[in-house]
Amino acid sequence: MHKNISLTDLITNIPKAELHLHIEGTFEPELLFAIAHRNNISIPFESVDALRAAYSFNNLQEFLNLYYQGADVLLHEQDFYDLTWAYFLKAKENKIIHSEIFFDPQTHTKRGVSFDAVINGIRKALVDAQDKLGISSRLIMCFLRDMSEESAFETLNQALPYRDWIIGIGLDSAEVGNPPSKFERVFAEARELGLLTVAHAGEEGPAEYVREALNLLNITRIDHGNRCLDDDELLKEIVAKQIPLTVCPLSNLKLRVVMDMKDHPLKTMLKKGLMATVNSDDPAYFGGYINDNFITTAEAVGLEREHIITLVKNSFAASFISEEEKSKYLSLVDEFVANS
Ligand code: ADE
Ligand code: ZN
Repeated sequence: MHKNISLTDLITNIPKAELHLHIEGTFEPELLFAIAHRNNISIPFESVDALRAAYSFNNLQEFLNLYYQGADVLLHEQDFYDLTWAYFLKAKENKIIHSEIFFDPQTHTKRGVSFDAVINGIRKALVDAQDKLGISSRLIMCFLRDMSEESAFETLNQALPYRDWIIGIGLDSAEVGNPPSKFERVFAEARELGLLTVAHAGEEGPAEYVREALNLLNITRIDHGNRCLDDDELLKEIVAKQIPLTVCPLSNLKLRVVMDMKDHPLKTMLKKGLMATVNSDDPAYFGGYINDNFITTAEAVGLEREHIITLVKNSFAASFISEEEKSKYLSLVDEFVANS
């Protein structure tokens, strides 16, 4: 039976997957202050409100500066657990039933925090999320592209004892001036280990970086990818191969990748046949979790019921779970849609 619920109700309640989420970007100011306090670290903001008020950015780098500063208060395994668990509670509220989570080990190891503390804390929350909230997840380890190739190799080596906890590797941080080609060799080694590969490309960087990520890093998903719309030939290839894009609308607005939500290319991407998905990127910093991303974009560019359903199904189809798990999740979506 088709009950024709409102678009907002559909968005709010449909079971979702999230494929582009930096765990360090889910650090809400309240938790940040609490962890700073218990670790005896002083932060250059007077209050939670003052910190939140600083979340206004002109570009990616301005955001990254605050994001790394925030991450500086994370020291112990428990801190990483608390951060990750807090995200899963938000995920549950947002009806996320599967999440593929980025973490940036170098952000922590370069401050002297052990790789073990980072991954053990995150991993324990992943296990609890499955057991207590019924949310499945995967971990994707990102290299900071503004650090050296050598540091990326070192990070890959540190991850070896935890190989089974990591589904793939990614590439994030300051894009312009740090092309995918810089990491061709470390991505090749990761692929030999059986790791899947993704990369941020075409967020601030040009279409050429998207092409490099595809051709040199052999990525199976493109994180952001907005700028592929600038290059018809590249666009055609991405559509033909149905390479998924993990699009992050509120992030794009806050980092001025788009100047106005009405200009967001999400609907155009779908029209052009791209396999787009909707994600929250760094929700604590960009003012909204996945449902807010859907709702704000739907209002601004006029998404309809069928668009939402396509976007949600794309996320499950583009996820790194088995075909069996995919069809189980996709039937849950179909069942929800049939009753709404
Ligand atoms: N690290 C966290 N969020 C990021 C983004 N949107 N782009 C690049 N690096 C990031
Ligand atoms: Zn990102």
